[in-house]
Amino acid sequence: MKHLFPLLALLALAACGDDTAHQNVELSDADLAYVPISERIILEASDDGWRSHGRTYSEQRHSPLSQISTDNVDELGLAWSIELGADRGIEVTPIVHNGTMFITSTWNIVLALDAVTGEMLWKHDPLVDRKQAALGCCDAVNRGVALWGDDVFTGTIDGRLISLDALTGEVNWDVNTIDKSKPYTITGAPRIVNGMVLIGNGGAEFGVRGYISAYNAQTGEMVWRFYTVPGNPELGFENDAMAKAAETWTGEYWQAGGGGTVWDSMAYDPELNQLYIGVGNGSPWNHGIRSPEGGDNLYLSSIVALNPDNGEYIWHYQSTPAETWDYTATQHMILAELEIEGQMRKVIMQAPKNGFFYVLDRETGEFISANNYVPVTWATHIDPESGRPVEVEGARYSGSEPVLTLPGSYGGHNWMPMSYSPETGLVYIPAQEIPLVFGEAEDYEYTPGIWNTGLNGMFAVLPTDVPTLTYLKAMVKGRLIAWDPVKQEAAWSVEHKGPWNGGVLSTKSNVVFQGTADAHFAAYNAATGEELWKYFTQTGIVAAPITYSIDGEQYVAVAAGWGGAYALIAGGVLPSGSRPDGGRLMVFKLGGTEELPEITEQAIRDTTPPAPIDVSKEVIALGEYTYVHNCSVCHGEQALSYGSIPSLRLSNITKSSETWRTVVLNGALSGYGMPNFDGILDEDEVEAVRAYVIDAANSERTAAFYESIGKPTVEQESQTEADAESDSEENAGG
Ligand code: HEC
Repeated sequence: MKHLFPLLALLALAACGDDTAHQNVELSDADLAYVPISERIILEASDDGWRSHGRTYSEQRHSPLSQISTDNVDELGLAWSIELGADRGIEVTPIVHNGTMFITSTWNIVLALDAVTGEMLWKHDPLVDRKQAALGCCDAVNRGVALWGDDVFTGTIDGRLISLDALTGEVNWDVNTIDKSKPYTITGAPRIVNGMVLIGNGGAEFGVRGYISAYNAQTGEMVWRFYTVPGNPELGFENDAMAKAAETWTGEYWQAGGGGTVWDSMAYDPELNQLYIGVGNGSPWNHGIRSPEGGDNLYLSSIVALNPDNGEYIWHYQSTPAETWDYTATQHMILAELEIEGQMRKVIMQAPKNGFFYVLDRETGEFISANNYVPVTWATHIDPESGRPVEVEGARYSGSEPVLTLPGSYGGHNWMPMSYSPETGLVYIPAQEIPLVFGEAEDYEYTPGIWNTGLNGMFAVLPTDVPTLTYLKAMVKGRLIAWDPVKQEAAWSVEHKGPWNGGVLSTKSNVVFQGTADAHFAAYNAATGEELWKYFTQTGIVAAPITYSIDGEQYVAVAAGWGGAYALIAGGVLPSGSRPDGGRLMVFKLGGTEELPEITEQAIRDTTPPAPIDVSKEVIALGEYTYVHNCSVCHGEQALSYGSIPSLRLSNITKSSETWRTVVLNGALSGYGMPNFDGILDEDEVEAVRAYVIDAANSERTAAFYESIGKPTVEQESQTEADAESDSEENAGG
């Protein structure tokens, strides 16, 4: 029953209701006049569209449109919205061209919509292997498509790259980009340079070797592949860059793949003909285990510049040498020209997870400047001579006691895109402060196919006493920071209700748009940070907005859909009464009068905890241990999730030992992304987890904890419609 809603919603989207992989609809004259995408069209970046992931190759996410301004933005209203029937995170950046909007939804379903009316033109379901989601660290998400020529390109969670006809949605080609025996997944949007489709992948939590590949856009044939970390030296190195990198690794680092996945950011400078890729964390995370005799471990946590024609290495800059905290450098990179000490410099800018904002010369990779944009405990500063961080003594947890660290593995900034306004000269960063306690695993052994962090706990040591938890929770913050990249300091910042807020868009008319974790879409004055408008979106936003103009009307589009790593593990600050299954795309214009569908009784969760059962403390302790190591990453700390994956404390399935076993050990829900633990856990452990979840559901400790941080307790959760209502009034008021 439970799954009927999303399925029905998707079927309703389909034009003719049959269940084949895609449907198409009659084409209008405008459709037939499709203008093929070329480098020139992306470079021209005319106002009517948003033709590349970061709008242009420079990835500034800044629009020259100015109809919507600081004076009238409070007149924005909904022009149209479309329900995606999705209860997982939605991270897509819509692409708009020729009056058509192309988006991806959960399970890599691609939709082509009329950008003015929202009418569906076609839908393609690549029928991905949904079990693959269990191999994604951070939810079954996707960040969007790329356009080239007459075609649309998309990557899938099960590692495929697909070319579709932009007019009809028909498949041109569909190729596998990964070694299927390894836990690779794709969540990122492809980029296209010189007729080649570029795609990376993820999987460094589970043990893979990172790489990026280029495919011929016409034929789907692979043109080149660049690995980011060295393989087994006995097999020989692919190129000099790998031989060089291998000198910075020790031990049998290749056993667990080494990591360094290119799961999100890229940028391209057509003048210099350089492609920039952001490289991820090590596998396993713990540097002491990964590379026991030390070493920087190139090219982890680095920006690497490549020749896009052949994938050859040009330069690299490593922001976190000997990475051990999951400090990826896969975060959004922006290209700009900045005046620094009287000189115009071609720079590349990044705010990677490690908490420092970097400005580099993008021609050479030379370090120009860096400063911390959030509180940082692991390093004091970046040495301007060497460009290396100066680490705080005792910051590394290998061979030591657990260490409370800021930023934690969620990063000072995660994948959510920033924007750069040449008008204000500021970079707008969706920043956050989430501490984690890193501690070394006692008897680590690499096990393929499950989380391999080398930490005590799946990704952190979870303290269980209320004072420590309360202390840690109080440190958790989310902000929008307007950062001056020349002065390397904040111009202003706005504090949000919590972390894990959406990506950012800025416009020429000095408006900054951002969606938030507490289910709002807001506009700020780009120069001052003053909040100008906000709209209740019913579910949290992690995706980035875009803007485009058709027939003289400016539109702002953003996808809502609470999800991704932090949402799954820690929950978030969704207001009571919001609906975590509210994945949708919303498009706003001045004077828009449409409304979001009402939140129904059904969408609000049942909040009765399961009745206590009588088991020993030892069983509960085993259950908690097993839960933390196998389940918390998706179902949340303390078995309470405010995200899209069911809160086990509130699940009816928790009430029945037998159904519980069917789900956890027989794979009853594996088609929906719930892993089958058969062969990993035994029946006693699985039953102990159930006992722990029931204990947690009834525990005063957790109730007290949530009360102490002002989050609604389970009991309070049902008095929520009042909240939701007062929020909708906010919308009506503009
Ligand atoms: C990779 C993420 C992931 C992990 C890890 C995970 N789950 Fe799940 N689980 C899911 C998803 C997604 C669903 C929802 C599937 C659906 O849509 O029905 C789910 C559903 C469930 C349900 C059904 C809840 C309901 O009300 O429908 C149970 C029970 C469950 N999981 C138990 C566990 C246990 C126990 C563990 C650890 C041993 C675990 N899960 C680990 C993703 C995960």
